[in-house]
Amino acid sequence: MDVRLIAAPRKRTPADLIVFGFFEGSPFLKESEALEPDFAKSIRAALEKKRFSGKFGETVSVYCDKLHEAPEAVVIGLGKKTNFRTLCVRKSAGTVIQMAQCRKAEQVRVFLDSFSGGEVTLQNAAEAFGELSHLAAYRFDQYKSQSGDEEKKKTPETVELLFSKSAAESSLKKAVEWAEIVASGTLMARNLINEPGNAMTASKMVKVAEELAEEKAVTCKVLEQKELEELKMGGILAVNQGSIHPPALIILEYGARYKKTGILCLVGKGVTFDTGGISIKPAKDMEKMKYDMSGSAAVIATLSALADAKLPVHVIGLMPMVENNVANNPIRPGDIIRMYNGKTVEVLNTDAEGRLILADALAYTERYKPRAIIDLATLTGMCAATFGDKAIGMLGNDERLLARVRKAGEITGQRCWELPLWDEYRDQIKGHHSDLLNIGGPYGGTITAAMFLKEFVPAKTPWVHLDIAGTAWCDSPRYDCVKGATGVGVKLLMQFIAESVR
Ligand code: BES
Ligand code: ZN
Ligand code: ZN
Repeated sequence: MDVRLIAAPRKRTPADLIVFGFFEGSPFLKESEALEPDFAKSIRAALEKKRFSGKFGETVSVYCDKLHEAPEAVVIGLGKKTNFRTLCVRKSAGTVIQMAQCRKAEQVRVFLDSFSGGEVTLQNAAEAFGELSHLAAYRFDQYKSQSGDEEKKKTPETVELLFSKSAAESSLKKAVEWAEIVASGTLMARNLINEPGNAMTASKMVKVAEELAEEKAVTCKVLEQKELEELKMGGILAVNQGSIHPPALIILEYGARYKKTGILCLVGKGVTFDTGGISIKPAKDMEKMKYDMSGSAAVIATLSALADAKLPVHVIGLMPMVENNVANNPIRPGDIIRMYNGKTVEVLNTDAEGRLILADALAYTERYKPRAIIDLATLTGMCAATFGDKAIGMLGNDERLLARVRKAGEITGQRCWELPLWDEYRDQIKGHHSDLLNIGGPYGGTITAAMFLKEFVPAKTPWVHLDIAGTAWCDSPRYDCVKGATGVGVKLLMQFIAESVR
Protein backbone atom coordinates (compact mmCIF):
# COMPACT_ATOMS: atom_id res chain seq x y z
CA MET A 1 0.00 0.00 0.00
CA ASP A 2 1.11 3.46 -0.90
CA VAL A 3 0.35 6.40 1.41
CA ARG A 4 0.72 9.75 -0.36
CA LEU A 5 0.51 13.30 0.85
CA ILE A 6 -1.07 15.62 -1.65
CA ALA A 7 -1.20 19.39 -1.31
CA ALA A 8 -4.51 20.92 -2.33
CA PRO A 9 -5.51 22.47 -4.59
CA ARG A 10 -4.14 20.22 -7.25
CA LYS A 11 -5.85 18.50 -10.11
CA ARG A 12 -6.83 15.06 -8.96
CA THR A 13 -7.49 11.76 -10.64
CA PRO A 14 -10.68 9.92 -9.69
CA ALA A 15 -10.75 7.85 -6.50
CA ASP A 16 -13.05 5.04 -5.33
CA LEU A 17 -13.81 6.53 -2.00
CA ILE A 18 -13.38 9.95 -0.47
CA VAL A 19 -13.50 10.51 3.24
CA PHE A 20 -14.22 13.47 5.49
CA GLY A 21 -14.21 13.82 9.24
CA PHE A 22 -17.00 15.77 10.90
CA PHE A 23 -17.17 17.18 14.42
CA GLU A 24 -20.45 17.02 16.27
CA GLY A 25 -22.22 20.37 16.22
CA SER A 26 -19.85 22.06 13.79
CA PRO A 27 -20.86 23.73 10.53
CA PHE A 28 -20.38 21.62 7.47
CA LEU A 29 -16.94 21.91 5.92
CA LYS A 30 -16.65 24.62 3.32
CA GLU A 31 -13.93 22.84 1.39
CA SER A 32 -16.08 19.80 0.79
CA GLU A 33 -18.93 21.97 -0.36
CA ALA A 34 -16.80 23.59 -3.01
CA LEU A 35 -15.46 20.22 -4.07
CA GLU A 36 -18.60 18.22 -4.17
CA PRO A 37 -21.81 20.24 -4.19
CA ASP A 38 -24.06 17.20 -4.65
CA PHE A 39 -22.38 15.37 -1.88
CA ALA A 40 -22.56 18.39 0.44
CA LYS A 41 -26.28 18.69 -0.27
CA SER A 42 -26.91 15.09 0.74
CA ILE A 43 -24.87 15.40 3.88
CA ARG A 44 -26.68 18.56 4.87
CA ALA A 45 -29.97 16.75 4.37
CA ALA A 46 -28.77 13.90 6.59
CA LEU A 47 -27.79 16.43 9.26
CA GLU A 48 -31.09 18.28 9.02
CA LYS A 49 -33.11 15.10 9.20
CA LYS A 50 -31.02 14.03 12.18
CA ARG A 51 -29.86 10.86 10.45
CA PHE A 52 -26.33 11.83 11.29
CA SER A 53 -25.03 14.15 13.98
CA GLY A 54 -21.29 13.56 13.99
CA LYS A 55 -21.13 11.45 17.14
CA PHE A 56 -17.85 9.62 17.42
CA GLY A 57 -17.79 6.58 15.15
CA GLU A 58 -21.05 7.42 13.38
CA THR A 59 -20.82 7.32 9.59
CA VAL A 60 -22.90 8.47 6.69
CA SER A 61 -22.24 7.45 3.15
CA VAL A 62 -23.35 9.05 -0.08
CA TYR A 63 -23.26 6.95 -3.18
CA CYS A 64 -23.83 9.00 -6.28
CA ASP A 65 -22.33 8.88 -9.74
CA LYS A 66 -22.67 12.63 -10.07
CA LEU A 67 -19.81 13.12 -7.66
CA HIS A 68 -16.75 14.60 -9.29
CA GLU A 69 -14.04 12.72 -7.55
CA ALA A 70 -15.40 9.38 -6.47
CA PRO A 71 -18.59 7.38 -6.66
CA GLU A 72 -18.81 7.28 -2.88
CA ALA A 73 -18.13 9.76 -0.14
CA VAL A 74 -18.11 8.85 3.52
CA VAL A 75 -18.36 11.25 6.41
CA ILE A 76 -17.16 9.89 9.69
CA GLY A 77 -18.31 11.40 12.98
CA LEU A 78 -15.47 12.56 15.21
CA GLY A 79 -17.53 13.50 18.26
CA LYS A 80 -17.11 16.82 20.08
CA LYS A 81 -14.08 18.79 19.00
CA THR A 82 -13.12 19.46 22.62
CA ASN A 83 -12.83 15.72 23.30
CA PHE A 84 -10.81 14.90 20.21
CA ARG A 85 -7.45 13.24 21.06
CA THR A 86 -4.76 11.23 19.29
CA LEU A 87 -6.45 7.95 20.16
CA CYS A 88 -9.66 9.26 18.54
CA VAL A 89 -7.98 10.11 15.25
CA ARG A 90 -6.21 6.74 15.29
CA LYS A 91 -9.53 4.94 15.79
CA SER A 92 -11.13 7.00 13.02
CA ALA A 93 -8.25 6.26 10.65
CA GLY A 94 -8.54 2.53 11.43
CA THR A 95 -12.28 2.65 10.74
CA VAL A 96 -11.71 4.43 7.43
CA ILE A 97 -9.24 1.78 6.27
CA GLN A 98 -11.53 -1.06 7.32
CA MET A 99 -14.46 0.57 5.49
CA ALA A 100 -12.28 0.89 2.40
CA GLN A 101 -11.40 -2.77 2.67
CA CYS A 102 -15.03 -3.86 2.95
CA ARG A 103 -15.82 -1.85 -0.18
CA LYS A 104 -12.75 -3.13 -1.99
CA ALA A 105 -11.81 0.46 -2.71
CA GLU A 106 -8.45 0.70 -4.41
CA GLN A 107 -7.95 4.45 -4.30
CA VAL A 108 -8.90 6.13 -1.03
CA ARG A 109 -8.71 9.88 -0.59
CA VAL A 110 -8.80 11.42 2.86
CA PHE A 111 -9.41 15.11 3.48
CA LEU A 112 -6.85 15.40 6.22
CA ASP A 113 -7.73 18.91 7.42
CA SER A 114 -11.14 17.67 8.48
CA PHE A 115 -9.48 15.26 10.93
CA SER A 116 -7.58 17.89 12.90
CA GLY A 117 -9.13 19.70 15.82
CA GLY A 118 -9.17 19.60 19.61
CA GLU A 119 -5.84 18.16 20.73
CA VAL A 120 -5.13 16.72 17.30
CA THR A 121 -2.87 18.67 14.96
CA LEU A 122 -2.69 18.12 11.22
CA GLN A 123 0.61 16.37 11.86
CA ASN A 124 -1.00 14.00 14.37
CA ALA A 125 -3.69 13.22 11.83
CA ALA A 126 -1.09 12.52 9.14
CA GLU A 127 0.81 10.22 11.49
CA ALA A 128 -2.38 8.38 12.44
CA PHE A 129 -3.38 7.74 8.82
CA GLY A 130 0.19 6.86 7.87
CA GLU A 131 0.31 4.25 10.60
CA LEU A 132 -3.24 2.90 10.55
CA SER A 133 -3.27 2.51 6.77
CA HIS A 134 -0.85 -0.33 7.36
CA LEU A 135 -1.96 -1.63 10.77
CA ALA A 136 -5.67 -1.75 10.05
CA ALA A 137 -5.20 -3.33 6.63
CA TYR A 138 -2.98 -6.09 8.00
CA ARG A 139 -4.01 -9.72 7.55
CA PHE A 140 -2.08 -12.88 8.24
CA ASP A 141 -3.26 -14.99 5.34
CA GLN A 142 -0.27 -16.76 3.85
CA TYR A 143 -1.62 -20.11 4.99
CA LYS A 144 -4.97 -19.62 3.27
CA SER A 145 -5.51 -21.52 0.03
CA GLN A 146 -6.04 -19.54 -3.17
CA SER A 147 -9.73 -20.41 -3.56
CA GLY A 148 -10.87 -18.84 -0.33
CA ASP A 149 -8.60 -15.92 -0.83
CA GLU A 150 -11.00 -12.97 -0.94
CA GLU A 151 -9.23 -11.12 1.86
CA LYS A 152 -6.05 -10.42 -0.06
CA LYS A 153 -7.79 -8.32 -2.69
CA LYS A 154 -9.30 -5.95 -0.21
CA THR A 155 -6.32 -3.83 0.75
CA PRO A 156 -6.43 -0.37 -0.86
CA GLU A 157 -3.59 0.34 -3.28
CA THR A 158 -3.22 3.97 -2.40
CA VAL A 159 -4.35 6.18 0.43
CA GLU A 160 -4.07 9.82 -0.50
CA LEU A 161 -3.91 12.34 2.29
CA LEU A 162 -5.08 15.65 0.97
CA PHE A 163 -4.10 18.74 2.92
CA SER A 164 -4.51 22.45 2.29
CA LYS A 165 -2.06 24.13 4.66
CA SER A 166 0.98 24.13 2.42
CA ALA A 167 3.34 25.49 5.06
CA ALA A 168 3.05 22.20 6.93
CA GLU A 169 4.23 20.01 4.08
CA SER A 170 7.67 19.04 5.36
CA SER A 171 6.48 18.26 8.89
CA LEU A 172 3.59 16.23 7.50
CA LYS A 173 5.99 14.31 5.32
CA LYS A 174 8.18 13.54 8.29
CA ALA A 175 5.18 12.43 10.32
CA VAL A 176 4.02 10.03 7.61
CA GLU A 177 7.52 8.68 7.04
CA TRP A 178 7.99 7.97 10.72
CA ALA A 179 4.55 6.39 10.96
CA GLU A 180 5.28 4.09 8.03
CA ILE A 181 8.62 2.99 9.47
CA VAL A 182 7.07 2.20 12.83
CA ALA A 183 4.08 0.47 11.23
CA SER A 184 6.22 -1.71 9.01
CA GLY A 185 8.27 -2.71 12.07
CA THR A 186 5.06 -3.55 13.89
CA LEU A 187 3.85 -5.68 10.98
CA MET A 188 7.18 -7.45 10.84
CA ALA A 189 6.72 -8.39 14.50
CA ARG A 190 3.13 -9.50 13.87
CA ASN A 191 4.20 -11.71 10.98
CA LEU A 192 6.88 -13.44 13.03
CA ILE A 193 4.57 -14.00 15.99
CA ASN A 194 1.61 -15.23 13.95
CA GLU A 195 3.79 -17.93 12.39
CA PRO A 196 2.84 -21.21 14.04
CA GLY A 197 5.22 -23.07 16.32
CA ASN A 198 6.01 -25.67 13.64
CA ALA A 199 7.34 -22.95 11.34
CA MET A 200 8.78 -20.49 13.82
CA THR A 201 11.74 -22.24 15.42
CA ALA A 202 14.94 -20.76 16.79
CA SER A 203 16.68 -21.54 13.49
CA LYS A 204 13.93 -19.75 11.57
CA MET A 205 14.43 -16.68 13.72
CA VAL A 206 18.18 -16.93 13.14
CA LYS A 207 17.53 -16.92 9.41
CA VAL A 208 15.33 -13.85 9.69
CA ALA A 209 18.01 -12.06 11.72
CA GLU A 210 20.76 -12.98 9.27
CA GLU A 211 18.68 -11.81 6.33
CA LEU A 212 18.03 -8.55 8.12
CA ALA A 213 21.77 -8.07 8.60
CA GLU A 214 22.32 -8.62 4.89
CA GLU A 215 19.67 -6.11 3.92
CA LYS A 216 20.08 -3.34 6.45
CA ALA A 217 22.66 -1.57 8.56
CA VAL A 218 22.64 -4.08 11.42
CA THR A 219 25.11 -6.80 12.30
CA CYS A 220 24.14 -10.23 13.52
CA LYS A 221 25.93 -12.65 15.79
CA VAL A 222 24.44 -16.00 16.72
CA LEU A 223 25.47 -18.13 19.67
CA GLU A 224 24.49 -21.71 18.87
CA GLN A 225 24.10 -24.76 21.13
CA LYS A 226 27.86 -25.42 21.29
CA GLU A 227 28.74 -21.85 22.19
CA LEU A 228 25.91 -21.67 24.69
CA GLU A 229 27.40 -24.79 26.32
CA GLU A 230 30.87 -23.28 26.37
CA LEU A 231 29.51 -20.09 27.92
CA LYS A 232 27.52 -22.19 30.44
CA MET A 233 24.20 -20.54 29.66
CA GLY A 234 22.40 -22.98 31.90
CA GLY A 235 19.02 -21.27 31.72
CA ILE A 236 18.70 -21.25 27.93
CA LEU A 237 20.06 -24.80 27.62
CA ALA A 238 17.83 -26.21 30.36
CA VAL A 239 14.62 -24.83 28.91
CA ASN A 240 15.46 -26.10 25.44
CA GLN A 241 16.31 -29.62 26.67
CA GLY A 242 12.76 -30.75 25.87
CA SER A 243 12.92 -29.63 22.26
CA ILE A 244 14.21 -31.33 19.14
CA HIS A 245 15.08 -27.91 17.73
CA PRO A 246 18.43 -26.37 18.68
CA PRO A 247 18.40 -23.14 20.74
CA ALA A 248 20.14 -19.88 19.87
CA LEU A 249 21.04 -16.55 21.37
CA ILE A 250 20.69 -14.00 18.60
CA ILE A 251 22.52 -10.70 18.98
CA LEU A 252 21.73 -7.84 16.61
CA GLU A 253 23.60 -4.58 16.73
CA TYR A 254 22.75 -1.22 15.21
CA GLY A 255 24.68 2.05 15.22
CA ALA A 256 28.03 1.02 16.74
CA ARG A 257 29.51 4.26 15.44
CA TYR A 258 27.22 6.41 17.57
CA LYS A 259 28.98 6.87 20.88
CA LYS A 260 27.14 9.79 22.44
CA THR A 261 24.17 8.09 24.04
CA GLY A 262 25.91 4.95 25.31
CA ILE A 263 24.55 1.50 24.58
CA LEU A 264 20.92 0.50 24.96
CA CYS A 265 20.36 -3.25 25.30
CA LEU A 266 16.99 -4.66 24.32
CA VAL A 267 16.29 -8.20 25.49
CA GLY A 268 13.29 -10.15 24.18
CA LYS A 269 11.81 -13.43 25.35
CA GLY A 270 11.92 -15.89 22.47
CA VAL A 271 10.01 -19.02 23.39
CA THR A 272 8.84 -20.20 19.98
CA PHE A 273 6.23 -22.38 21.66
CA ASP A 274 5.44 -22.78 25.35
CA THR A 275 3.79 -26.10 26.19
CA GLY A 276 4.72 -25.53 29.81
CA GLY A 277 7.12 -28.47 29.68
CA ILE A 278 6.60 -31.26 32.24
CA SER A 279 4.49 -28.79 34.27
CA ILE A 280 2.31 -28.87 31.19
CA LYS A 281 -0.29 -26.22 30.39
CA PRO A 282 -4.00 -27.01 30.04
CA ALA A 283 -5.13 -27.73 26.46
CA LYS A 284 -7.54 -24.80 26.30
CA ASP A 285 -6.05 -21.88 24.38
CA MET A 286 -2.63 -23.50 24.34
CA GLU A 287 -2.34 -22.67 20.63
CA LYS A 288 -1.91 -19.05 21.65
CA MET A 289 1.47 -19.93 23.14
CA LYS A 290 3.08 -19.51 19.74
CA TYR A 291 3.03 -15.85 20.78
CA ASP A 292 5.55 -16.56 23.54
CA MET A 293 8.30 -15.13 21.33
CA SER A 294 6.56 -11.75 21.08
CA GLY A 295 9.32 -10.05 23.08
CA SER A 296 12.01 -11.26 20.69
CA ALA A 297 9.86 -10.28 17.69
CA ALA A 298 9.51 -6.76 19.08
CA VAL A 299 13.28 -6.55 19.50
CA ILE A 300 14.21 -7.75 16.01
CA ALA A 301 11.53 -5.53 14.44
CA THR A 302 12.71 -2.51 16.42
CA LEU A 303 16.26 -3.02 15.13
CA SER A 304 14.91 -3.26 11.62
CA ALA A 305 12.89 -0.05 12.06
CA LEU A 306 15.87 1.70 13.63
CA ALA A 307 17.96 0.93 10.57
CA ASP A 308 15.18 2.37 8.40
CA ALA A 309 14.89 5.49 10.53
CA LYS A 310 18.69 5.90 10.67
CA LEU A 311 18.58 7.25 14.21
CA PRO A 312 21.97 8.14 15.75
CA VAL A 313 21.88 5.59 18.58
CA HIS A 314 23.76 2.45 19.51
CA VAL A 315 21.37 -0.39 20.27
CA ILE A 316 22.05 -4.07 20.85
CA GLY A 317 19.17 -6.55 20.72
CA LEU A 318 19.50 -9.92 22.45
CA MET A 319 17.05 -12.70 21.72
CA PRO A 320 17.30 -16.01 23.55
CA MET A 321 15.38 -18.45 21.34
CA VAL A 322 14.12 -21.80 22.63
CA GLU A 323 11.11 -24.07 22.59
CA ASN A 324 9.58 -25.19 25.89
CA ASN A 325 8.50 -28.72 25.05
CA VAL A 326 8.57 -32.25 26.46
CA ALA A 327 10.60 -34.27 23.95
CA ASN A 328 14.15 -35.56 24.43
CA ASN A 329 15.23 -35.01 27.98
CA PRO A 330 13.10 -32.23 29.39
CA ILE A 331 13.90 -30.54 32.70
CA ARG A 332 11.96 -31.91 35.64
CA PRO A 333 10.42 -29.99 38.52
CA GLY A 334 13.09 -30.01 41.22
CA ASP A 335 16.01 -29.91 38.83
CA ILE A 336 18.72 -27.52 39.91
CA ILE A 337 20.49 -25.63 37.15
CA ARG A 338 23.44 -23.26 37.09
CA MET A 339 22.93 -20.03 35.21
CA TYR A 340 25.38 -18.00 33.10
CA ASN A 341 26.18 -15.67 36.02
CA GLY A 342 26.88 -18.64 38.31
CA LYS A 343 23.71 -18.50 40.43
CA THR A 344 21.84 -21.77 40.92
CA VAL A 345 18.10 -22.15 40.43
CA GLU A 346 15.71 -24.89 41.48
CA VAL A 347 13.14 -25.27 38.75
CA LEU A 348 9.93 -25.80 40.73
CA ASN A 349 7.75 -25.25 37.70
CA THR A 350 8.96 -25.85 34.16
CA ASP A 351 6.30 -23.46 32.86
CA ALA A 352 8.14 -20.53 34.44
CA GLU A 353 10.72 -20.82 31.66
CA GLY A 354 10.79 -17.28 30.30
CA ARG A 355 12.70 -15.93 33.29
CA LEU A 356 15.30 -18.69 32.91
CA ILE A 357 16.24 -17.74 29.37
CA LEU A 358 15.98 -13.99 29.99
CA ALA A 359 18.22 -14.34 33.03
CA ASP A 360 21.12 -15.61 30.90
CA ALA A 361 20.60 -12.95 28.24
CA LEU A 362 20.37 -10.19 30.85
CA ALA A 363 23.55 -11.35 32.58
CA TYR A 364 25.30 -11.56 29.21
CA THR A 365 24.66 -7.83 28.57
CA GLU A 366 27.32 -7.08 31.17
CA ARG A 367 30.02 -7.28 28.51
CA TYR A 368 28.49 -4.31 26.69
CA LYS A 369 28.40 -2.08 29.79
CA PRO A 370 25.00 -0.78 28.67
CA ARG A 371 23.70 2.57 29.82
CA ALA A 372 20.23 1.01 30.04
CA ILE A 373 18.50 -2.32 29.52
CA ILE A 374 14.88 -2.87 28.56
CA ASP A 375 13.48 -6.36 28.36
CA LEU A 376 10.16 -7.39 26.85
CA ALA A 377 8.48 -10.68 27.64
CA THR A 378 5.14 -12.46 27.61
CA LEU A 379 6.18 -13.49 31.08
CA THR A 380 3.18 -14.06 33.34
CA GLY A 381 -0.48 -14.93 32.94
CA MET A 382 -0.92 -12.90 36.13
CA CYS A 383 0.02 -9.72 34.26
CA ALA A 384 -2.67 -10.38 31.66
CA ALA A 385 -5.11 -11.08 34.49
CA THR A 386 -4.19 -7.77 36.17
CA PHE A 387 -4.17 -5.33 33.26
CA GLY A 388 -6.05 -7.17 30.54
CA ASP A 389 -4.92 -5.86 27.16
CA LYS A 390 -4.90 -2.23 28.28
CA ALA A 391 -1.46 -1.87 29.84
CA ILE A 392 2.00 -3.34 29.86
CA GLY A 393 3.22 -4.34 33.31
CA MET A 394 6.38 -2.35 34.04
CA LEU A 395 8.97 -2.97 36.74
CA GLY A 396 12.49 -1.68 37.12
CA ASN A 397 15.32 -0.43 39.27
CA ASP A 398 15.74 3.14 38.07
CA GLU A 399 13.20 5.93 38.51
CA ARG A 400 14.42 7.99 35.59
CA LEU A 401 14.38 5.14 33.12
CA LEU A 402 10.95 4.07 34.35
CA ALA A 403 9.64 7.61 33.85
CA ARG A 404 11.01 7.76 30.30
CA VAL A 405 9.43 4.45 29.36
CA ARG A 406 6.15 5.51 30.95
CA LYS A 407 6.18 8.71 28.89
CA ALA A 408 6.85 6.82 25.66
CA GLY A 409 3.90 4.61 26.59
CA GLU A 410 1.60 7.57 27.06
CA ILE A 411 2.59 9.13 23.74
CA THR A 412 2.23 5.92 21.75
CA GLY A 413 -0.85 4.56 23.52
CA GLN A 414 1.16 1.47 24.54
CA ARG A 415 0.75 2.38 28.16
CA CYS A 416 3.06 1.00 30.81
CA TRP A 417 1.91 0.75 34.41
CA GLU A 418 4.39 0.27 37.19
CA LEU A 419 4.32 -2.45 39.81
CA PRO A 420 6.67 -2.40 42.81
CA LEU A 421 9.94 -4.30 43.07
CA TRP A 422 10.32 -4.11 46.84
CA ASP A 423 13.02 -6.18 48.52
CA GLU A 424 10.33 -7.79 50.69
CA TYR A 425 9.29 -9.89 47.69
CA ARG A 426 12.69 -11.50 47.50
CA ASP A 427 11.90 -14.06 50.21
CA GLN A 428 9.42 -15.68 47.85
CA ILE A 429 12.12 -16.72 45.39
CA LYS A 430 14.83 -17.61 47.91
CA GLY A 431 15.98 -21.20 47.42
CA HIS A 432 16.29 -24.03 49.91
CA HIS A 433 18.76 -26.28 48.09
CA SER A 434 19.72 -23.56 45.60
CA ASP A 435 20.23 -19.80 45.46
CA LEU A 436 16.90 -19.13 43.84
CA LEU A 437 13.56 -20.73 42.97
CA ASN A 438 12.01 -20.09 39.57
CA ILE A 439 8.55 -19.40 41.00
CA GLY A 440 7.44 -17.30 43.93
CA GLY A 441 4.20 -18.97 44.97
CA PRO A 442 0.63 -18.05 44.10
CA TYR A 443 0.71 -14.36 45.00
CA GLY A 444 2.32 -11.41 43.23
CA GLY A 445 3.36 -13.51 40.25
CA THR A 446 4.26 -10.65 37.92
CA ILE A 447 6.39 -9.07 40.63
CA THR A 448 8.20 -12.22 41.72
CA ALA A 449 9.01 -12.98 38.08
CA ALA A 450 10.62 -9.54 37.78
CA MET A 451 12.37 -10.02 41.15
CA PHE A 452 13.92 -13.14 39.66
CA LEU A 453 15.13 -11.22 36.58
CA LYS A 454 16.59 -8.50 38.81
CA GLU A 455 19.03 -11.07 40.20
CA PHE A 456 20.65 -11.28 36.77
CA VAL A 457 20.78 -7.63 35.76
CA PRO A 458 24.39 -6.38 35.78
CA ALA A 459 25.21 -4.31 38.86
CA LYS A 460 24.40 -0.59 38.78
CA THR A 461 22.67 -0.83 35.43
CA PRO A 462 19.35 0.94 34.92
CA TRP A 463 16.85 -1.69 33.79
CA VAL A 464 13.17 -1.87 32.97
CA HIS A 465 11.20 -5.07 32.52
CA LEU A 466 8.03 -4.95 30.41
CA ASP A 467 5.55 -7.80 30.83
CA ILE A 468 3.60 -7.85 27.57
CA ALA A 469 1.60 -11.05 28.27
CA GLY A 470 -1.71 -9.14 28.12
CA THR A 471 -0.93 -6.74 25.28
CA ALA A 472 0.91 -8.86 22.71
CA TRP A 473 -2.19 -10.73 21.55
CA CYS A 474 -5.54 -9.49 20.32
CA ASP A 475 -8.43 -11.90 21.02
CA SER A 476 -11.07 -10.14 18.94
CA PRO A 477 -10.72 -7.62 16.08
CA ARG A 478 -10.00 -3.99 16.95
CA TYR A 479 -9.66 -0.76 14.96
CA ASP A 480 -5.94 -1.40 14.52
CA CYS A 481 -5.60 -5.16 14.57
CA VAL A 482 -7.15 -8.46 13.61
CA LYS A 483 -7.21 -11.46 15.93
CA GLY A 484 -3.62 -12.46 16.55
CA ALA A 485 -0.36 -10.72 17.33
CA THR A 486 -0.50 -6.97 17.96
CA GLY A 487 3.20 -6.21 17.47
CA VAL A 488 3.20 -4.29 20.74
CA GLY A 489 6.55 -2.87 21.83
CA VAL A 490 7.93 -1.73 18.48
CA LYS A 491 6.24 1.66 18.52
CA LEU A 492 6.93 2.06 22.22
CA LEU A 493 10.65 1.36 21.82
CA MET A 494 10.96 3.54 18.72
CA GLN A 495 9.35 6.43 20.58
CA PHE A 496 11.59 5.84 23.60
CA ILE A 497 14.70 5.75 21.43
CA ALA A 498 13.72 8.76 19.31
CA GLU A 499 13.13 10.75 22.47
CA SER A 500 16.57 9.79 23.83
CA VAL A 501 18.31 11.53 20.91
CA ARG A 502 16.02 14.52 20.68
N1 BES B 1 4.29 -17.74 28.60
C1 BES B 1 3.74 -17.86 29.88
C2 BES B 1 2.98 -16.60 30.31
C3 BES B 1 1.52 -16.60 29.99
C4 BES B 1 0.66 -17.52 30.56
C5 BES B 1 1.01 -15.66 29.14
C6 BES B 1 -0.69 -17.49 30.27
C7 BES B 1 -0.34 -15.62 28.85
C8 BES B 1 -1.19 -16.54 29.41
C9 BES B 1 4.83 -18.11 30.91
O1 BES B 1 5.90 -18.85 30.46
C10 BES B 1 4.19 -18.90 32.01
O2 BES B 1 3.73 -19.96 31.74
N2 BES B 1 4.14 -18.35 33.20
C11 BES B 1 3.51 -18.98 34.30
C12 BES B 1 4.35 -18.75 35.52
C13 BES B 1 3.91 -19.56 36.70
C14 BES B 1 4.20 -21.01 36.46
C15 BES B 1 4.66 -19.05 37.91
C16 BES B 1 2.12 -18.38 34.45
O3 BES B 1 1.97 -17.16 34.30
O4 BES B 1 1.18 -19.13 34.67
ZN1 ZN C 1 5.58 -20.96 30.55
ZN1 ZN D 1 6.34 -18.66 28.44
